[in-house]
Amino acid sequence: QLTSFMQMAEGMSDEEKIFTYNGVLYPSIMCPEETLKRLDSIQAREDDVMLVAYPKCGFNWMVGVLRKIIGEATGKKMDSKTPPLIEFSAPEYLKQDPSPRLLGTHIHPDNIPASFFEKKTKMLVVFRNPKDTLVSFYHFYQNNPVLPSGQSWETFFSNFMSGEVAWGSYFEHAKAWEKRMDDPNIMVVTYEELKEDLSMGVRNISRFFGFQLTEEQVQQIAEGSTFRAMREKSNDSHAGMGKVFFRKGEVGDWKNNFTPEQSQKMDEVFKAELEGTRLGAKLNY
Ligand code: A3P
Repeated sequence: QLTSFMQMAEGMSDEEKIFTYNGVLYPSIMCPEETLKRLDSIQAREDDVMLVAYPKCGFNWMVGVLRKIIGEATGKKMDSKTPPLIEFSAPEYLKQDPSPRLLGTHIHPDNIPASFFEKKTKMLVVFRNPKDTLVSFYHFYQNNPVLPSGQSWETFFSNFMSGEVAWGSYFEHAKAWEKRMDDPNIMVVTYEELKEDLSMGVRNISRFFGFQLTEEQVQQIAEGSTFRAMREKSNDSHAGMGKVFFRKGEVGDWKNNFTPEQSQKMDEVFKAELEGTRLGAKLNY
């Protein structure tokens, strides 16, 4: 629950807010170490709806969309208060949720419990241009009380590039998903594609998960999931922190933040890590 996130963060120092586990930084309130250690005890189900995204790629947007899709298609009443992160909720809590469950994660694919791959659970993977992701992440660090704030833009830029940010390196996540692009149980979408045509996104995503929706339902879900619509409703769902999660919602905000040198540096790293890959092409590089 996000209210208690904020309350918990109040008495904490910046050092206590973040910790390293298996070489990766995690925010201690959103990813309790106890839960990370027990991730593998989560039993995946074939009919789980799994959402995976590197932080700030549009996770909460797709949480909203998937809750609506599942609700419309199955009549299940979806909990809109708890973030569906498997690294946050204890396995016992997840176990008592009836199917179809909406589960999500920001963790690297190699750390997703093996049972999700064994059961061939369908996974929607959301990516975003790394420049806009970095800008969004920078603001998130500044404004989210569960993360250490106060890093300058320059410091955050270099931390992002070296993967010293919560949930680890963008590039490591991207390279790992690139290897799984042919898996029929994985659907990769980009933030930019969704911005371009959200109705198509909703239609394809619901089909991928095997839900039957009418065209009217698809349109209704898309209309209810625009940035403006979600931002307006976000105070209810994010306990007063809506504006932190629903900040600007645009493609290309990096142009307002990056210096030409930083832009060039990102292009070089992207080229070295992902040039010629299918995911790289999807991200318009
Ligand atoms: P900005 O900071 O660029 O505005 P996540 O949910 O993974 O943390 O991602 C947050 C980013 O997604 C934020 O980007 C947020 O504004 C954007 N976002 C959230 N809902 C959106 C929507 N309905 N349409 C477009 N962007 C959205």
